[in-house]
Amino acid sequence: MRNVCIAGNWKMNMIPSEGKAFAAQLIDAASKAAENETVVVAPPFITIPAVIEAVKGSPIKVAAQNMSDQASGAFTGEVSADMLLDAGVTYVILGHSERRALYGEDDAFINRKVRYALEKGLNVILCVGETLEERESGRLEQVLQTQVTEGLKDVSASQMADVIIAYEPVWAIGTGKTATADDANSAHSFIRGVVADILSEDVANNLIIQYGGSVKPNNVKSLMSMEHIDGALVGGASLTVEQFAPIVQFND
Ligand code: PGA
Repeated sequence: MRNVCIAGNWKMNMIPSEGKAFAAQLIDAASKAAENETVVVAPPFITIPAVIEAVKGSPIKVAAQNMSDQASGAFTGEVSADMLLDAGVTYVILGHSERRALYGEDDAFINRKVRYALEKGLNVILCVGETLEERESGRLEQVLQTQVTEGLKDVSASQMADVIIAYEPVWAIGTGKTATADDANSAHSFIRGVVADILSEDVANNLIIQYGGSVKPNNVKSLMSMEHIDGALVGGASLTVEQFAPIVQFND
């Protein structure tokens, strides 16, 4: 059985005091999660230290939502891998569609970040996914193939133990529209096939592939029941304990 990972992407929400209070309330649900499940929250950079403090000694892991591809130096506004590691961060989300669309991040740039994060010992959640226009014009597989292949360029089979792929169809993010469990499962199965081709069957079989895009307490069970769906990357519903706790405990 593959491992499972439920991650909450807070985006630009939660000031430090809110994040701290939220994290403390989530510990109970995270402690009751299944043995093969990892629970991750991704606060904004400034909120990370307060959350790390609050989750100390609990099973909750903390992710950053982005990271520089550079080690240090004159890069105003950027945050390095060493800074994240020193703060206690163990995961980083890279290539989120909002970074791709709003800040012009392309596959080559994302790949530099992926390789650097892995070199530094961070776990990576690499986001991929098509726009509605790409899906409707029949380019779903081509887009996923490119994003996965380019995003994982020069990543070794052994480094893949620290990689999660999040399939997030852009049209389902924050819109209330979820891919059907069958559509998501077939995209996940395609992604697994691409990983098998570029790395190995073994790597592909062990890879956690999360679904993201309007995951809620009422659809998480059907998504998680699918063969190739091993977790969720949750935006809006990760902002209240009322919604996120039942997602974390989808197995109950
Ligand atoms: P959503 O966001 O759950 O609000 O659709 C998901 C994401 O962008 O990671």
